[in-house]
Amino acid sequence: MPKDFRIIVLISGRGSNLKSLIEQAQTFNIVGVLSNKPEAPGLDYARRANLPIFAFDRKQFDSIAEMKQALLKQCIELKPDLVVLAGFMQIVEPDFLAAFPSRVINIHPSLLPAYPGIDTHARVLAAKEGRHGCSVHIVDGGIDTGPLLAQAACDCLPSDDLATLSNRVLALEHKLLPWVVNSVASGDIDPAAGIPRYSATARAQARENDFVIFEQNHN
Ligand code: GRF
Repeated sequence: MPKDFRIIVLISGRGSNLKSLIEQAQTFNIVGVLSNKPEAPGLDYARRANLPIFAFDRKQFDSIAEMKQALLKQCIELKPDLVVLAGFMQIVEPDFLAAFPSRVINIHPSLLPAYPGIDTHARVLAAKEGRHGCSVHIVDGGIDTGPLLAQAACDCLPSDDLATLSNRVLALEHKLLPWVVNSVASGDIDPAAGIPRYSATARAQARENDFVIFEQNHN
């Protein structure tokens, strides 16, 4: 399959989801990795893979708004078919979303709509939840809201602590996000207009991998 589907990945830190995208890219090309933190360790994965890197240093701009404008301009210049937020810890503004309608997706470490925001694993442990997991959703301007594309879940064990639970969820993230991005790139998941559609192939693969998909969004 020709890999002419262009994605850009926005990160702020560790970049393990970026690494999983680099390693599992089947139907897409990563045409740029952008960060609001020039020192983000995850940029090393992009360097090693020889991907174009665009890092924005707040100190180089008069205001955060100016920096966000520069980042948006760069994103537009890269002409992405899909924008992937993978641990990008900066609010995405309406003008950004307007530039890529229904084409900005985010990976979040909880079974949304439960536990939006930060510290999800600690809050899940404190609430003694039986299940936890991760979600990939279309970004709509809220904090971790927007139509869900897919989720992967796991049990929480009585013996779990922050490290064991977050590692189990992270392992799921590293399968779920590349699957969603490959599927969007191949046309098997269509996020058009915020109402996702799934091909028979995507449905079968979701069943095989125990991913939850969200066809009821069509209602
Ligand atoms: C992941 O847990 C992701 O779900 C969340 O931020 C974390 C980023 O991890 N949005 P990494 O930088 O990809 O390792």
